[in-house]
Amino acid sequence: MSAPNKSYDPVEVEALKPEEIERMRDEALAAFAAAGDLDALAHAKTAHAGGTSPLALANREIGALPPQAKAEAGKRVGQARGAVNKAYAQRLAQLEAERDERVLVEEAVDVTLPYDRVPAGARHPLTTLMDRVADIFVGMGYEVAEGPEVEAEWFNFDALNFTPDHPARQMQDTFFVRGAQADRSTAGDESGVVLRTHTSPVQARALLERREPPVYIVCPGRVYRTDELDATHTPVFHQVELLAVDKGLTMADLKGTIDHMVKELFGEDTTTRLRPHFFPFTEPSAEMDMQCYVCRGASVGNPDRPCRTCSSEGWIELGGCGMVNPKVLTACGVDPEVYSGFAFGFGIERMLMFRHNVEDMRDMVEGDVRFTRPFGMEI
Ligand code: DAH
Repeated sequence: MSAPNKSYDPVEVEALKPEEIERMRDEALAAFAAAGDLDALAHAKTAHAGGTSPLALANREIGALPPQAKAEAGKRVGQARGAVNKAYAQRLAQLEAERDERVLVEEAVDVTLPYDRVPAGARHPLTTLMDRVADIFVGMGYEVAEGPEVEAEWFNFDALNFTPDHPARQMQDTFFVRGAQADRSTAGDESGVVLRTHTSPVQARALLERREPPVYIVCPGRVYRTDELDATHTPVFHQVELLAVDKGLTMADLKGTIDHMVKELFGEDTTTRLRPHFFPFTEPSAEMDMQCYVCRGASVGNPDRPCRTCSSEGWIELGGCGMVNPKVLTACGVDPEVYSGFAFGFGIERMLMFRHNVEDMRDMVEGDVRFTRPFGMEI
């Protein structure tokens, strides 16, 4: 900065010449116009409107002018600085608007995308249905019983009166567990251990564990058979088993119990029927059917009203049942002269299929939450 000098001729101060001031102003305006983004504009501002910019330095020179020249120079510099500040503000507003517009486009959020990529789990309908069935019997005084899924062959077959050559014991139906001592080159079917093929072994376990009847148990559980997974088969599935052993139980009690369960599950006016059948562990044995709860039999012989649920049969097969074979009671230490019992067992997958129109069993095992969620909760 020049020192105050009374004899200083303002025309001689280079930086304050009108054309110099104009040049500084024009350079500033050009620099702001050329700034392509906010960073560049900030640099241009420091260079052309900052404390060390040519115009600011020129402004300082004013103080050194003789009084008569100060006013004119001050006005000129002030106007130039005013023009520069205005141009800066305009360019700033322009660049900010451009940035905001770009951000809106670049950072746009697609609100139609799924908001939750880790959906909450859901109760599997097989579990819900098994619990529901078990609850019906708990409400009648039955106890829930469980048994191991890796089961002794004796419980799975022998105690239930399966003869040694019964076809169910064949490797093609039953998973045999290879014993720790078994020769690894053989299939290991001498280990005496199987993956239980049904929940019926829990009957034998319950009788042996409790010794003295009355025994009233319901057993929901997982069972295994050597089936390939397809639309109607799965090697792992679920059954519910029922066993009642007491004095004086008859086939009428069995029928009444089945009726009660079916009415609870499918409505008051659902009826059942028994068809003679054979199971080694019941005598007499029967297969139990329920009347189709959708068409109530109206589809039978009526091609105009076909029913998908029962394939227009009018009846839906539920499972097997019968009076506990005295041989089973004896094998489990219960005197068949004193006690009698009834039992039944059925598959939960099948029931879920016809109760909820599930057409492919694979949907039940794949674990996709989109299948399970629509079934909701039952408490
Ligand atoms: N355990 C039989 C099966 O898996 C079903 C069954 C039939 C269970 C008759 C029973 C019964 O309790 O009495 O095919």
